[in-house]
Formats: sequence, C-alpha cells, structure tokens
Amino acid sequence: APSAAPAPSAPGPDAHLGYGKIILLGEHSVVYGYHAIAAPIGLSVRAQVTRQASLRAPVIADWDSDGSVREPLRADLSHRVAALIASRLGVSAAGVRVDVFSHLPRASGLGASAAFAVAVIRAVADSFQLTISDAEVSSLAFECEQIVHGTPSGIDNTVATFGRSVLFQKTDAPGGHTIRDIFTPHPIPIVIGLSGVESLTAQTVGLVRTAWQRNPTRYDAIFSQIDGLVLAGVDALRRGDVAELGELMNINQGLLNALQVSSPEIEALVAIARRAGALGAKLTGGGGGGAMIAIAEPGGTEPIMAAMRSAGYTTYLTEIR
Ligand code: MEV
Repeated sequence: APSAAPAPSAPGPDAHLGYGKIILLGEHSVVYGYHAIAAPIGLSVRAQVTRQASLRAPVIADWDSDGSVREPLRADLSHRVAALIASRLGVSAAGVRVDVFSHLPRASGLGASAAFAVAVIRAVADSFQLTISDAEVSSLAFECEQIVHGTPSGIDNTVATFGRSVLFQKTDAPGGHTIRDIFTPHPIPIVIGLSGVESLTAQTVGLVRTAWQRNPTRYDAIFSQIDGLVLAGVDALRRGDVAELGELMNINQGLLNALQVSSPEIEALVAIARRAGALGAKLTGGGGGGAMIAIAEPGGTEPIMAAMRSAGYTTYLTEIR
C-alpha cells in the first residue's frame, strides 16, 4: 500500500518523464493495422525512484496535485506493471520505492497508463544505472500496456516515449510498427475537453473487437474510410490547412459514432465546440467518455474553451508542432 507520508516537494530535474498524448485522427482503426496520427500534449507523468533497503516489497506512491496519495492505475495493475519492468530490466523490485507525479487525468484516453509505464521504466533504469534506448523503453512500455489494455496498437507507448507527433501504423510482428514524423509549417492549437466520465480504453477496444468479429467486412470498410481521412490529414498538416483538418476530424467523429464509441457527454462537448466556432471536433483516444479535441484557427481557441468551461467542463490547450 502507498505510504501516507507528505508529498515530496516538486520532482527534481532528474525525474523521468512519460508524455501524454492525443490522437488527432485514427483511433480504434489503428488497432487493426490502419494509420493514425498522434501528438504529445503538455501534460506528462514523472517518476522518481529511491532505493530503501528496508523495503521488502516495492512501493508505488502516486501523488495527486493536492498532496494526497492515490493508486496509480488500479493497484493490482500498477504492481503487475512494476513487477514486469523489474523483471525485464533484470533488477529486484524489493527495496524500490517509486514516486509518481501525474498531471494527466486518468481513464480519459490521454495515454496516462502508457506515460506511467514509460516514466517508471526510465526512473528504474536510471536508478540501477542501466542504459536503455528509447526503442527499448517503448517496447517494454508496450508490454506494460498489454497488461492494462489487452490488445494495444502501440501508439500510446510510442508517443509516451518519444514525445513527438507521428504517423503510426502497426505491423504484424508483436509490438511491431512503423512511425513517420509529422510536419506542419506552424504550430496548430488544439483544445482538449474532458467529459468528466472516466472510461477504460480496454473496454471500448473490446466492444469494437466484438462488433468487428461479428461482421468483419462491414467494420473493415469503416476502418478503411478512417484510414483515408488519416492520410489526407498528413497532407493537411504538411500544408498547415486547419480548415481541411477540421473537416477530416468531423468526418472521423461520424465514423467513430458508427463504431459506437462516442458518449452523450462527448457529443455535448463536440456540439459546444462547433457552436463556438471550432472547425472540427471529435473524441480522442478510446472514447466511451474520456476526452475530446477541437481545432480552430489561431485566436479561435479562446471562445471554444470559454464555452466548454461555462458548461462545466475542464479544458486544456495544446498544439501540434
Ligand atoms: C487509445 O489511445 C487508442 C486506441 O486506438 C487503442 C490503441 O490504439 O491501442 C483506442
């Protein structure tokens, strides 16, 4: 169980990071080998490891911003993740204390579990003076995501590790994928809205899988349409064409609705954003609640955030660069 000691002060410069993310276009279909675009956001998870010989079992303390300790992920999952990390890095978990500081809302489709795994892997490796490449960090975080999510595509651990915008495609080998950097002539602001409803990606991914298994032809046709939007999105980003990106996001939201992974709160946020001038709005991540994103011309984001906030929702501002 986490200790009830007061929160350590702000993490030091040697703290280790995992980045949160948004999926701009292509969630869910990415699990079936189609493309998706993801970008890091300014919210991350930090981890610090201290070694305490007196500890018989590892301690994972997740510090809330109010200084209270909460369980990172679900307690059983975070301990399975920590055990896997220790075993893959060839170190003993006993005597290890991990303090986790997260700015990422959990169960919101913003990649908190992958960012948690990446931060802990980096902190544990550093504490045992192990050199580990980013590719190794990401591949171990993928295994951690399999514990939490079942059948992840690998996009979350990739962005959590590398912290840059990518075009991602899963390949057939376990954990295999290709990534290409995304280019855009100027940073594109993105509003993030939280529905306030926690939702587990494992669950919505499971629902889509069941539907796909019942009727693969019908669902593959939807995935393939989403793929076309993603590839058009790469071109729109390259041109900095925000209006086209918005259009692609709106159509992607329609197809995510076809996959039945939206929610009443997400629909409300999407409507608020569009009424306040968003050029595009859609859910991001697993759906079923969680978070949505909206795009606007620079200068157009403030009214959207204000409208969401006055309706009682939490918002963040990030940008694709
Ligand atoms: C989760 O961020 C995105 C999903 O496509 C699941 C995955 O890719 O692992 C819903």
